[in-house]
Amino acid sequence: MGLGNYQSRRLLSRMAVNDKHGENSPYFDGWKAYDRDPFHPTNNLHGVIQMGLAENQLCFDLIQEWMKNHPEASICTPEGLNHFRDVAIFQDYHGLPKFRKGVANFMSKVRGGRVKFDEDRVVMSGGATGANEVIMFCLANPGDAFLIPTPYYPAYARDLCWRTGVQIVPVHTDSSNNFQITREALETAYIRAQQDNLNVKGLLITNPSNPLGTTLERDTMKSLISFINEKNIHLVCDEIYAATVFNKPSFVSVSEIIQDVDFVYNKDLIHIVYSLSKDMGFPGFRVGIVYSYNDSVVSCARKMSSFGLVSSHSQHMLASMLSDDDFVNKFLAESSRRLATRHSLFTEGLEKMGVTCLPSNAGLFCWMNLRSLLKEQTVEGEIKLWRVIVNEVKLNISPGSSFSCSEAGWFRVCFANMDDETVKVALRRIKAFVGKEAEKAKNVIQRRSINGLRIISSSSSSKRFDESWVMSPHSTHVMSPHSPIPHSPLVKVT
Ligand SMILES: Cc1ncc(COP(=O)(O)O)c(C=O)c1O
Repeated sequence: MGLGNYQSRRLLSRMAVNDKHGENSPYFDGWKAYDRDPFHPTNNLHGVIQMGLAENQLCFDLIQEWMKNHPEASICTPEGLNHFRDVAIFQDYHGLPKFRKGVANFMSKVRGGRVKFDEDRVVMSGGATGANEVIMFCLANPGDAFLIPTPYYPAYARDLCWRTGVQIVPVHTDSSNNFQITREALETAYIRAQQDNLNVKGLLITNPSNPLGTTLERDTMKSLISFINEKNIHLVCDEIYAATVFNKPSFVSVSEIIQDVDFVYNKDLIHIVYSLSKDMGFPGFRVGIVYSYNDSVVSCARKMSSFGLVSSHSQHMLASMLSDDDFVNKFLAESSRRLATRHSLFTEGLEKMGVTCLPSNAGLFCWMNLRSLLKEQTVEGEIKLWRVIVNEVKLNISPGSSFSCSEAGWFRVCFANMDDETVKVALRRIKAFVGKEAEKAKNVIQRRSINGLRIISSSSSSKRFDESWVMSPHSTHVMSPHSPIPHSPLVKVT
């Protein structure tokens, strides 16, 4: 029997009755639309295609092959069963030493072998979700704030804030410089937070970025480190997409910058969040890592990891896999090659129909520019367009507003959680939709022109009808953002 709202508020904790989990955003609504009517190539050809899920499913064959060749790595095979007792008994929160060693080895390989990670600083956690929360518990008190550049991963509201009471202060970026983080934007956000009496404890960046699919340049990283040093606040780098870089420029981890002997910084302020969810495509294994250069944080996070341990069976198996240098080298190279191919297939398909994405070199998604299709350049306009895309075009993509983007009309579209054929179906649907929208725009213009002509001829004006401004879907005319006529999708990000 359900409880009335008032009664449940009194019976339950504030945590249980608040809605700060963030589940109400369109980001999650799109998932629900997919769950109700999922696309299937034979059973449900007209269903919703899931392009809102940043999963990396392009290299499962390599993993399966490795597992087939290493049955001893699992305790569920005759070859591995003799380890059953060791793995099944109680494990403390330090984790299996061979697992931490394997993770440190993998993290180093992902960064091109240019840095070494100390296995004694590897703290495990339930995915990056758990790792991000643990690091907040270690660095901030309820009410304290973290600066985060926009657009950012929607679930940060849940992961960083919900149970910790930490607040996010957005650092706004926009398309005028391809959403780069500037010192000026950081200062503005910092000052605004202070004016709001917020105690800023740190800056959190996602590098490579979700949702932009871009990497931060070395100089930008240096300037961020200088900024946090000057303010004496923490820098948390969520590097969960580190191995998804498929094109130049290559990924520069914070761990590399702070190796630079000429660079003066306080290493106690630097922390990395990592996970195998994206780079290996294992979100189901819940392997998250906190890697801090601060001894007290390592010690506190390790104690906290009791609440989010990785199962010892997963640790046991992954210890072998991640320490297999040949496999890891081959996997990383092949994964990035396949991501590059998939990225090209998708973005080139979009370009042919006049839809552009922010240039990107990493991630499992594109940041697609549909500003030209907005009826109004507002969040409401964006959500209206998004509803049509989810309900009529049947693609679950994620609107930029759910990433706290400061400009309307951007959408994150995931491309690595499906096969090539499904990508092609999605491209065909986008093409049909964009074509229909362009046709509608043309009709509106033609109707206006005819009305205009009638007015002109009825007023016997000598002005000639000029139809040169009628847009074709491939016209490069740039119209006023206030025009009721949708822009051509060709309008480029500047
Ligand atoms: C930037 C970022 N951080 C953290 C997470 C959470 O990852 P995990 O599955 O390891 O909890 C995600 C997942 O999408 C993410 O994109």
